[in-house]
Amino acid sequence: EKCKLIKVESPEKGAEQFYQLIKEELENDRLHVLGLATGSTMIPVYAKLTASELDFSNVTTFNLDEYVGLPATSPNSYAYFMDDHLFNKKKFKETNIPNGMAADLDAECNRYEQALQQAGLDIQLLGVGENGHIAFNEPGTPADSVTHVAELTDSTLGVNSQYFDNDEKIPTTALTMGIASIMSAKKLVLLAFGEKKRPAITKFLEGKIDSDWTITYLHEHDDVTIITDLDM
Ligand code: GLP
Repeated sequence: EKCKLIKVESPEKGAEQFYQLIKEELENDRLHVLGLATGSTMIPVYAKLTASELDFSNVTTFNLDEYVGLPATSPNSYAYFMDDHLFNKKKFKETNIPNGMAADLDAECNRYEQALQQAGLDIQLLGVGENGHIAFNEPGTPADSVTHVAELTDSTLGVNSQYFDNDEKIPTTALTMGIASIMSAKKLVLLAFGEKKRPAITKFLEGKIDSDWTITYLHEHDDVTIITDLDM
């Protein structure tokens, strides 16, 4: 295991660190397939990338997850979030997000997992939920999980529904890359800002793998960078 912890003063400084890392990987021709994440943590990150000169026209992206049943036109969908914060402003070679509107959700998960394994993730960007989840891998998700339909916990529904606009009800299920999908990336970069993330980062730093805190699976990866504004 090799884990690097980078302490920053603010989310904006964290975004700057991520930008530098991406810039270096692009310059060294090591970034062709980029895994992306959503959530408020990513807003300054995508603001930094879109304001930059970086050229992503040779980069293919795969997002971690999507709610079941929300069309891309819903402002609460992750597809909408990505268009709004990144894809409408930067040109990519190709972008992929699981389709939460698919008639056959299991088939969509299999298709997505195959596409991402075929492409091969160079870097996967991650946030973390307050209960320590990565993507929508809620407590108890096994290490060998691949892209699947996930049942969201009450904790996640409570936290995430705060961001829901115009009375749309938060879906209780989502499509998500699994732990094994995420771990297949060559490099993982996790961003955690604010006191609400302290329990998850504390749990991670204890160093033991605990399936009730899926962030702790990252100990099994040999190239993990955590960027945080928390004093640990
Ligand atoms: C959602 C996403 C996660 C994300 C988490 C944290 O649950 N599925 O991928 O890490 O939210 O969100 P925020 O950045 O808003 O704290």
